[in-house]
Amino acid sequence: MSEAVRNTLVKLQAFIGLIGFAALTPLLILVAVLSRLIAKLCCCSAPKSIEGEVAVVTGAGHGLGRAIALELARKGCHIAVVDINVSGAENTVKQIQDIYRVRAKAYKANVTSHGELVELNTKVVEDLGPVTVLVNNAGVMLHRNMIDPDPVDVQLMIDVNLTSHFWTKLVFLPTMKALRRGFIVTISSLAGVFPLPYSTSYTTTKAGTLAHMRALRMEMALENQKDIHVTTVLPTFLRTNSDVTQLTDTMGVAELYPLVSGEEAAHRIVAGMLRGEAEITLPGLASLLYRLIQIFPADWQDRLILLLSSSRFKKLRDERS
Ligand SMILES: NC(=O)c1ccc[n+]([C@@H]2O[C@H](COP(=O)([O-])OP(=O)(O)OC[C@H]3O[C@@H](n4cnc5c(N)ncnc54)[C@H](O)[C@@H]3O)[C@@H](O)[C@H]2O)c1
Repeated sequence: MSEAVRNTLVKLQAFIGLIGFAALTPLLILVAVLSRLIAKLCCCSAPKSIEGEVAVVTGAGHGLGRAIALELARKGCHIAVVDINVSGAENTVKQIQDIYRVRAKAYKANVTSHGELVELNTKVVEDLGPVTVLVNNAGVMLHRNMIDPDPVDVQLMIDVNLTSHFWTKLVFLPTMKALRRGFIVTISSLAGVFPLPYSTSYTTTKAGTLAHMRALRMEMALENQKDIHVTTVLPTFLRTNSDVTQLTDTMGVAELYPLVSGEEAAHRIVAGMLRGEAEITLPGLASLLYRLIQIFPADWQDRLILLLSSSRFKKLRDERS
Protein backbone atom coordinates (compact mmCIF):
# COMPACT_ATOMS: atom_id res chain seq x y z
CA MET A 1 0.00 0.00 0.00
CA SER A 2 1.40 3.40 -0.97
CA GLU A 3 2.14 5.98 1.72
CA ALA A 4 -0.49 8.35 0.28
CA VAL A 5 -3.23 5.67 0.55
CA ARG A 6 -2.11 4.75 4.10
CA ASN A 7 -2.23 8.42 5.16
CA THR A 8 -5.70 8.81 3.64
CA LEU A 9 -6.92 5.73 5.54
CA VAL A 10 -5.46 7.04 8.82
CA LYS A 11 -7.18 10.42 8.24
CA LEU A 12 -10.47 8.64 7.44
CA GLN A 13 -10.15 6.57 10.63
CA ALA A 14 -9.53 9.76 12.68
CA PHE A 15 -12.54 11.43 11.01
CA ILE A 16 -14.83 8.47 11.81
CA GLY A 17 -13.51 8.48 15.42
CA LEU A 18 -14.31 12.19 15.68
CA ILE A 19 -17.87 11.72 14.37
CA GLY A 20 -18.38 8.88 16.88
CA PHE A 21 -17.07 11.05 19.71
CA ALA A 22 -19.33 13.96 18.67
CA ALA A 23 -22.34 11.62 18.58
CA LEU A 24 -21.50 10.35 22.07
CA THR A 25 -20.93 13.84 23.55
CA PRO A 26 -24.51 14.54 24.78
CA LEU A 27 -24.52 11.15 26.52
CA LEU A 28 -21.09 11.78 28.10
CA ILE A 29 -22.22 15.22 29.35
CA LEU A 30 -25.33 13.64 30.88
CA VAL A 31 -23.28 10.92 32.60
CA ALA A 32 -20.75 13.51 33.92
CA VAL A 33 -23.53 15.75 35.31
CA LEU A 34 -25.39 12.80 36.86
CA SER A 35 -22.25 11.35 38.47
CA ARG A 36 -21.46 14.79 39.97
CA LEU A 37 -25.01 15.06 41.32
CA ILE A 38 -24.97 11.55 42.78
CA ALA A 39 -21.56 12.15 44.39
CA LYS A 40 -22.88 15.37 45.96
CA LEU A 41 -26.19 13.87 47.17
CA CYS A 42 -24.75 10.60 48.49
CA CYS A 43 -21.51 12.15 49.81
CA CYS A 44 -19.65 9.37 47.91
CA SER A 45 -16.43 11.35 47.98
CA ALA A 46 -16.14 11.55 51.78
CA PRO A 47 -13.35 13.94 52.84
CA LYS A 48 -10.09 12.32 53.94
CA SER A 49 -8.47 13.18 57.27
CA ILE A 50 -5.08 14.90 57.37
CA GLU A 51 -4.75 14.95 61.15
CA GLY A 52 -1.07 14.43 62.05
CA GLU A 53 0.14 14.72 58.43
CA VAL A 54 2.85 17.21 57.44
CA ALA A 55 2.17 19.95 54.89
CA VAL A 56 4.59 22.20 53.04
CA VAL A 57 2.88 25.42 51.97
CA THR A 58 4.98 27.66 49.71
CA GLY A 59 4.47 31.42 49.83
CA ALA A 60 2.71 30.97 53.18
CA GLY A 61 4.17 34.17 54.64
CA HIS A 62 1.31 36.23 53.23
CA GLY A 63 -2.07 36.20 51.50
CA LEU A 64 -3.66 33.02 50.22
CA GLY A 65 -0.72 30.83 51.31
CA ARG A 66 -1.09 32.01 54.92
CA ALA A 67 -4.86 31.43 54.81
CA ILE A 68 -4.32 27.87 53.45
CA ALA A 69 -1.68 27.16 56.12
CA LEU A 70 -4.15 28.23 58.84
CA GLU A 71 -6.95 26.15 57.33
CA LEU A 72 -4.73 23.03 57.10
CA ALA A 73 -3.68 23.58 60.74
CA ARG A 74 -7.39 23.78 61.66
CA LYS A 75 -7.69 20.28 60.18
CA GLY A 76 -4.89 19.03 62.47
CA CYS A 77 -2.01 19.08 59.98
CA HIS A 78 1.55 20.08 61.00
CA ILE A 79 2.75 22.94 58.84
CA ALA A 80 6.06 23.91 57.23
CA VAL A 81 5.52 27.57 56.42
CA VAL A 82 7.82 28.31 53.46
CA ASP A 83 8.60 31.76 52.05
CA ILE A 84 11.45 33.98 50.91
CA ASN A 85 10.02 36.51 53.38
CA VAL A 86 11.07 35.11 56.77
CA SER A 87 9.20 37.62 58.93
CA GLY A 88 5.99 36.90 57.03
CA ALA A 89 6.53 33.15 57.52
CA GLU A 90 7.21 33.63 61.25
CA ASN A 91 4.07 35.72 61.57
CA THR A 92 2.04 32.88 60.00
CA VAL A 93 3.61 30.36 62.41
CA LYS A 94 2.67 32.60 65.35
CA GLN A 95 -0.93 32.85 64.13
CA ILE A 96 -1.09 29.03 63.83
CA GLN A 97 0.42 28.46 67.26
CA ASP A 98 -1.89 31.02 68.90
CA ILE A 99 -4.95 29.03 67.84
CA TYR A 100 -4.11 25.40 67.01
CA ARG A 101 -2.31 22.56 68.77
CA VAL A 102 -0.24 21.47 65.80
CA ARG A 103 3.48 21.86 65.13
CA ALA A 104 4.42 24.69 62.76
CA LYS A 105 7.79 26.04 61.70
CA ALA A 106 8.96 28.83 59.41
CA TYR A 107 11.50 28.03 56.67
CA LYS A 108 13.24 30.44 54.35
CA ALA A 109 13.47 28.93 50.86
CA ASN A 110 13.30 30.26 47.34
CA VAL A 111 11.06 27.96 45.29
CA THR A 112 13.01 28.75 42.11
CA SER A 113 16.05 26.93 43.53
CA HIS A 114 15.97 23.13 43.31
CA GLY A 115 18.93 22.97 45.74
CA GLU A 116 17.14 25.05 48.40
CA LEU A 117 14.07 22.82 48.10
CA VAL A 118 16.20 19.68 48.61
CA GLU A 119 17.65 21.24 51.80
CA LEU A 120 14.16 22.32 52.86
CA ASN A 121 12.85 18.76 52.55
CA THR A 122 15.72 17.40 54.69
CA LYS A 123 15.01 19.98 57.43
CA VAL A 124 11.22 19.50 57.38
CA VAL A 125 11.55 15.70 57.62
CA GLU A 126 13.90 16.12 60.62
CA ASP A 127 11.67 18.69 62.35
CA LEU A 128 8.14 17.57 61.52
CA GLY A 129 8.23 14.27 59.59
CA PRO A 130 7.72 13.15 55.97
CA VAL A 131 5.75 15.55 53.79
CA THR A 132 2.46 14.19 52.46
CA VAL A 133 0.75 17.49 51.61
CA LEU A 134 2.32 19.95 49.17
CA VAL A 135 0.70 23.27 48.38
CA ASN A 136 2.35 25.04 45.42
CA ASN A 137 1.11 28.53 46.20
CA ALA A 138 4.09 30.93 45.93
CA GLY A 139 3.55 33.23 43.00
CA VAL A 140 4.42 36.55 41.41
CA MET A 141 1.46 38.32 39.85
CA LEU A 142 2.44 41.67 38.37
CA HIS A 143 5.45 42.98 36.51
CA ARG A 144 6.80 46.34 37.65
CA ASN A 145 6.13 47.55 34.09
CA MET A 146 2.98 45.79 32.88
CA ILE A 147 2.94 47.15 29.35
CA ASP A 148 6.63 46.71 28.50
CA PRO A 149 8.08 44.30 31.06
CA ASP A 150 11.78 43.89 31.68
CA PRO A 151 13.11 40.47 30.46
CA VAL A 152 14.45 39.77 33.96
CA ASP A 153 10.95 40.22 35.41
CA VAL A 154 9.43 37.95 32.74
CA GLN A 155 11.98 35.22 33.53
CA LEU A 156 11.38 35.58 37.29
CA MET A 157 7.63 35.13 36.84
CA ILE A 158 8.19 31.98 34.74
CA ASP A 159 10.66 30.62 37.31
CA VAL A 160 8.40 31.23 40.33
CA ASN A 161 4.99 30.44 38.83
CA LEU A 162 5.85 27.59 36.48
CA THR A 163 9.36 26.08 36.75
CA SER A 164 9.28 25.82 40.56
CA HIS A 165 6.45 23.27 40.34
CA PHE A 166 8.81 20.88 38.54
CA TRP A 167 11.32 21.27 41.40
CA THR A 168 8.75 20.76 44.19
CA LYS A 169 7.43 17.69 42.36
CA LEU A 170 10.97 16.27 42.04
CA VAL A 171 11.66 16.87 45.74
CA PHE A 172 8.37 15.94 47.46
CA LEU A 173 6.63 13.41 45.22
CA PRO A 174 9.01 10.42 45.73
CA THR A 175 8.10 10.21 49.45
CA MET A 176 4.39 10.36 48.65
CA LYS A 177 4.85 7.60 46.08
CA ALA A 178 6.77 5.46 48.59
CA LEU A 179 4.04 6.01 51.24
CA ARG A 180 1.35 5.58 48.56
CA ARG A 181 -0.57 8.63 49.76
CA GLY A 182 -0.50 12.39 49.51
CA PHE A 183 -2.02 15.63 48.25
CA ILE A 184 -0.57 18.08 45.76
CA VAL A 185 -2.47 21.35 45.50
CA THR A 186 -1.39 23.85 42.87
CA ILE A 187 -2.66 27.40 42.81
CA SER A 188 -3.14 28.32 39.18
CA SER A 189 -5.56 31.10 38.18
CA LEU A 190 -8.62 31.71 36.05
CA ALA A 191 -6.15 33.67 33.92
CA GLY A 192 -4.95 30.25 32.75
CA VAL A 193 -8.28 29.74 30.96
CA PHE A 194 -9.48 33.36 30.49
CA PRO A 195 -6.33 35.06 29.13
CA LEU A 196 -5.42 38.45 30.58
CA PRO A 197 -4.18 41.01 28.00
CA TYR A 198 -1.06 42.89 29.25
CA SER A 199 -0.32 39.96 31.59
CA THR A 200 0.89 37.48 29.01
CA SER A 201 3.64 36.02 31.22
CA TYR A 202 1.17 35.48 34.05
CA THR A 203 -1.45 33.97 31.72
CA THR A 204 1.17 31.65 30.22
CA THR A 205 2.53 30.42 33.55
CA LYS A 206 -0.95 29.74 34.92
CA ALA A 207 -2.07 27.87 31.77
CA GLY A 208 1.18 25.91 32.04
CA THR A 209 0.57 24.85 35.65
CA LEU A 210 -2.94 23.72 34.73
CA ALA A 211 -1.55 21.51 31.93
CA HIS A 212 1.30 20.28 34.15
CA MET A 213 -1.10 19.09 36.86
CA ARG A 214 -3.45 17.44 34.32
CA ALA A 215 -0.55 15.37 32.98
CA LEU A 216 0.66 14.58 36.52
CA ARG A 217 -2.83 13.37 37.51
CA MET A 218 -2.76 10.98 34.56
CA GLU A 219 0.71 9.73 35.58
CA MET A 220 -0.62 8.96 39.07
CA ALA A 221 -3.52 7.03 37.52
CA LEU A 222 -1.17 5.10 35.21
CA GLU A 223 1.05 4.24 38.20
CA ASN A 224 -1.99 3.14 40.22
CA GLN A 225 -1.27 5.82 42.86
CA LYS A 226 -4.96 6.40 43.50
CA ASP A 227 -4.29 7.87 46.96
CA ILE A 228 -2.11 10.66 45.64
CA HIS A 229 -4.55 13.42 44.81
CA VAL A 230 -3.63 16.30 42.50
CA THR A 231 -5.83 19.39 42.76
CA THR A 232 -5.49 22.53 40.66
CA VAL A 233 -7.11 25.74 41.84
CA LEU A 234 -8.28 28.43 39.43
CA PRO A 235 -9.22 31.49 41.49
CA THR A 236 -10.61 34.73 40.18
CA PHE A 237 -9.18 37.94 41.66
CA LEU A 238 -8.65 37.67 45.42
CA ARG A 239 -8.51 40.24 48.19
CA THR A 240 -5.06 38.99 49.29
CA ASN A 241 -2.56 41.24 47.52
CA SER A 242 -2.77 45.04 47.63
CA ASP A 243 -1.16 45.53 44.16
CA VAL A 244 -3.82 43.27 42.64
CA THR A 245 -6.59 45.07 44.53
CA GLN A 246 -5.31 48.38 43.16
CA LEU A 247 -5.36 46.93 39.63
CA THR A 248 -8.86 45.51 40.00
CA ASP A 249 -10.06 48.88 41.35
CA THR A 250 -8.72 50.55 38.18
CA MET A 251 -10.54 47.99 36.05
CA GLY A 252 -13.78 48.09 38.06
CA VAL A 253 -13.68 44.30 38.53
CA ALA A 254 -15.77 44.42 41.71
CA GLU A 255 -18.73 45.63 39.60
CA LEU A 256 -18.63 42.28 37.75
CA TYR A 257 -17.99 39.99 40.72
CA PRO A 258 -16.97 40.70 44.34
CA LEU A 259 -13.34 39.83 45.11
CA VAL A 260 -12.99 36.57 47.08
CA SER A 261 -11.25 36.76 50.48
CA GLY A 262 -8.21 34.59 51.27
CA GLU A 263 -10.07 32.83 54.11
CA GLU A 264 -13.08 32.02 51.91
CA ALA A 265 -10.78 30.68 49.18
CA ALA A 266 -8.69 28.63 51.64
CA HIS A 267 -11.80 27.04 53.15
CA ARG A 268 -13.05 25.95 49.71
CA ILE A 269 -9.58 24.80 48.56
CA VAL A 270 -8.87 22.59 51.59
CA ALA A 271 -12.39 21.10 51.53
CA GLY A 272 -11.98 20.28 47.81
CA MET A 273 -8.48 18.91 48.32
CA LEU A 274 -9.72 16.54 51.04
CA ARG A 275 -12.46 15.28 48.72
CA GLY A 276 -9.82 14.70 46.02
CA GLU A 277 -11.33 17.21 43.58
CA ALA A 278 -9.26 17.55 40.40
CA GLU A 279 -9.97 21.21 39.68
CA ILE A 280 -11.55 23.93 41.77
CA THR A 281 -12.66 27.22 40.25
CA LEU A 282 -13.40 30.20 42.43
CA PRO A 283 -16.18 31.17 42.08
CA GLY A 284 -17.66 27.83 40.98
CA LEU A 285 -19.84 29.49 38.32
CA ALA A 286 -16.71 30.43 36.35
CA SER A 287 -16.10 26.76 35.56
CA LEU A 288 -19.40 26.59 33.67
CA LEU A 289 -18.57 29.80 31.83
CA TYR A 290 -15.12 28.66 30.70
CA ARG A 291 -16.42 25.28 29.54
CA LEU A 292 -19.22 26.95 27.56
CA ILE A 293 -16.88 29.46 25.96
CA GLN A 294 -14.50 26.71 24.84
CA ILE A 295 -17.18 25.31 22.52
CA PHE A 296 -16.54 28.29 20.21
CA PRO A 297 -13.70 28.66 17.67
CA ALA A 298 -10.65 30.49 19.09
CA ASP A 299 -11.33 33.81 17.33
CA TRP A 300 -14.91 33.80 18.68
CA GLN A 301 -13.63 33.05 22.18
CA ASP A 302 -11.33 36.12 21.92
CA ARG A 303 -14.25 38.25 20.68
CA LEU A 304 -16.56 37.11 23.48
CA ILE A 305 -13.99 37.80 26.20
CA LEU A 306 -13.18 41.22 24.72
CA LEU A 307 -16.89 42.03 24.43
CA LEU A 308 -17.08 41.83 28.22
CA SER A 309 -13.74 43.34 29.08
CA SER A 310 -12.11 45.47 26.34
CA SER A 311 -12.97 48.86 27.91
CA ARG A 312 -11.51 47.69 31.25
CA PHE A 313 -8.22 46.54 29.67
CA LYS A 314 -7.94 49.72 27.56
CA LYS A 315 -8.35 51.77 30.75
CA LEU A 316 -5.65 49.71 32.42
CA ARG A 317 -3.28 50.07 29.43
CA ASP A 318 -3.81 53.84 29.28
CA GLU A 319 -3.20 54.21 33.01
CA ARG A 320 -0.06 52.03 33.09
CA SER A 321 1.52 53.34 29.81
N1 LIG B 1 -4.38 37.61 44.39
C1 LIG B 1 -5.10 37.21 43.38
O1 LIG B 1 -6.00 37.94 42.91
C2 LIG B 1 -4.89 35.84 42.77
C3 LIG B 1 -5.80 35.38 41.81
C4 LIG B 1 -5.60 34.12 41.24
C5 LIG B 1 -4.51 33.37 41.63
N2 LIG B 1 -3.64 33.85 42.55
C6 LIG B 1 -2.48 33.02 42.90
O2 LIG B 1 -2.53 32.73 44.29
C7 LIG B 1 -1.19 32.60 44.79
C8 LIG B 1 -1.05 33.46 46.03
O3 LIG B 1 -1.41 34.80 45.71
P1 LIG B 1 -1.50 35.92 46.85
O4 LIG B 1 -2.47 36.95 46.38
O5 LIG B 1 -1.65 35.33 48.18
O6 LIG B 1 -0.02 36.54 46.71
P2 LIG B 1 0.88 37.31 47.80
O7 LIG B 1 1.79 38.21 47.01
O8 LIG B 1 0.02 37.92 48.84
O9 LIG B 1 1.71 36.13 48.46
C9 LIG B 1 2.66 35.43 47.71
C10 LIG B 1 3.72 34.91 48.67
O10 LIG B 1 4.68 34.16 47.89
C11 LIG B 1 5.98 34.48 48.35
N3 LIG B 1 6.96 34.24 47.29
C12 LIG B 1 7.12 34.95 46.13
N4 LIG B 1 8.16 34.47 45.44
C13 LIG B 1 8.65 33.42 46.15
C14 LIG B 1 9.74 32.53 45.95
N5 LIG B 1 10.53 32.64 44.87
N6 LIG B 1 9.97 31.55 46.88
C15 LIG B 1 9.19 31.46 47.99
N7 LIG B 1 8.17 32.31 48.24
C16 LIG B 1 7.89 33.27 47.33
C17 LIG B 1 5.89 35.97 48.71
O11 LIG B 1 6.95 36.36 49.58
C18 LIG B 1 4.51 36.02 49.36
O12 LIG B 1 4.57 35.80 50.75
C19 LIG B 1 -0.25 32.96 43.65
O13 LIG B 1 0.21 31.80 43.02
C20 LIG B 1 -1.16 33.74 42.71
O14 LIG B 1 -0.72 33.68 41.37
C21 LIG B 1 -3.82 35.05 43.15
